[in-house]
Amino acid sequence: MKSLAFEVKVIRSVAEMAEALSVRRRVFIEEQAVPEEIEIDEHDGDPAEVDTAVHVLGRLDRVAVATGRLLLDEDREHLAHVGRVAVLAEHRGKGLGREIMAALHREARERGYPGIVLSAQLHAVGFYERLGYVGHGDVFLEAGIEHREMELLFGG
Ligand code: COA
Repeated sequence: MKSLAFEVKVIRSVAEMAEALSVRRRVFIEEQAVPEEIEIDEHDGDPAEVDTAVHVLGRLDRVAVATGRLLLDEDREHLAHVGRVAVLAEHRGKGLGREIMAALHREARERGYPGIVLSAQLHAVGFYERLGYVGHGDVFLEAGIEHREMELLFGG
């Protein structure tokens, strides 16, 4: 059987942004029941105009199946913030989430950030731990879902 090609790219157009939002809609709005007005925000506009975030899109055999975004803190000495990491349910457990994270880490490093901070849904803490993230502080609720703050310092 022919193996499918997974490609991750930085989003540069409104059309690619729409592909990423279709993945997030399926995962966060439909599967996790996050309200649309919380899920989609000012960082999700036309990439030519929004300079507060970098989004990545993962396509499997040219079909959008995964995404994630990096929020850019103006102060490069602060950690950049990763969020909205999503892989369609039918494609989980194949290493695609790891590749999305690698692309986001690359973008953060290239911009000179020392590391990443993120709010992990509790069920995903193990996923981030596999990538070297360390949990901090108490569990808190966001959009009705339990989260914990986690950090990764790039080092070297
Ligand atoms: N708990 C513990 N370990 C996990 C895990 C979980 N929920 N999900 C994946 N892992 C492990 C894998 O076993 C794999 O381990 P390995 O290093 O031994 O191979 C590693 O993490 C990478 O897994 P991968 O296959 O790349 O993850 P994925 O493509 O299934 O994506 C999520 C993981 C969390 C992005 C995906 O489950 C998802 O989209 N969930 C719904 C949306 C969501 O909750 N996003 C996170 C918001 S904070």
